[in-house]
Amino acid sequence: MADLAVQAEGLVKRFGDFTAVDGVSFELRTGEVVGYLGPNGSGKTTTIRLLLGLLRPTAGRATVLGYDAEHQTASLRPLVGYMSQKFALYDELTIAENVSFYAGVYGLSTAVQRRRQAEVLDWVGLRGSEGERAGEVSSGWRQRLALAIALVHQPRLLFLDEPTSGVDPMARRVFWDLIDELAQAGVTVFVSTHYMDEAEYCGRLGIMSDGHLLAMDSPAALKRDTLPGPAWNLVVDRLIPALHALREMPGIFQVGLRGDHLHAITLGGAHSRDSLQVALQGQGFTVVVEPAGPTLEDVFMALAGRGRAKE
Ligand SMILES: Nc1ncnc2c1ncn2[C@@H]1O[C@H](COP(=O)(O)OP(=O)(O)OP(=O)(O)O)[C@@H](O)[C@H]1O
Ligand SMILES: [Mg+2]
Repeated sequence: MADLAVQAEGLVKRFGDFTAVDGVSFELRTGEVVGYLGPNGSGKTTTIRLLLGLLRPTAGRATVLGYDAEHQTASLRPLVGYMSQKFALYDELTIAENVSFYAGVYGLSTAVQRRRQAEVLDWVGLRGSEGERAGEVSSGWRQRLALAIALVHQPRLLFLDEPTSGVDPMARRVFWDLIDELAQAGVTVFVSTHYMDEAEYCGRLGIMSDGHLLAMDSPAALKRDTLPGPAWNLVVDRLIPALHALREMPGIFQVGLRGDHLHAITLGGAHSRDSLQVALQGQGFTVVVEPAGPTLEDVFMALAGRGRAKE
């Protein structure tokens, strides 16, 4: 279908006996920003490499921009951009030389190269710094340079594999503004991340655990549909004993530490603010309970816990 940028159907990738991606199916619509959240080793990079045709699936197939990712890679390659997890910049080359090197790899003519180099560097905010060596600039700049390179051939679909790991929160925010701009220009963006705050910025979010895609939906829908009841923050005098007490209490779905307070999800209708307060006070705790918004961390814990319970 024309408005689908990606269609993954039952993708499986095994390395020997180990299954890194286990029956993953999803669709990306043109112009969407879709996040791919999951812990280390959950299969995010492997999925991206399958979609790019860099790995052959053990089973299943992917259609990317209308092409079969496994068999039509040559047609697909010029249409997609890829910022890999360990993006390779040439430290000895300048910012401009890095861009023109990769533009050459994509076979752009000299005139187009020159124009695109100016455009992408301007767009990521590196215009005027073309002469600096890539090895000598900050990690935030390196990351924006890598994004410029991934976009030099004007791809319609962009794969970003943990593009913001290791950069500071301000640089991450700037980077996400750029991603939003791309989406508004009609580029489809698939971006893997470990960061829950970034996951909130995505139109939809896929949640990976142990090679399984546990869910894919908007952050709001995931929070609404995944959790069995309301969320609460509990400010309590003795955090760890209260954590244990809550874990033993009926009607509690999950509870965890969040810095200086506890955060709990209760089973629908099982508890009110007062009932939680009274139950903890009855065990000698001094406690203030406040209703809270559910978080994506709650969603991830709930989904991953359910996955484990099935095994
Ligand atoms: N070429 C390979 N040979 C053997 N095992 C591999 C290979 N590539 C990946 N794996 C394994 O597959 C699993 C999934 O790896 P993958 O890189 O897709 O995870 P990830 O979600 O991207 O993790 P991270 O967040 O650390 O980048 C890991 O256990 C990894 O060790
Ligand atoms: Mg990875």
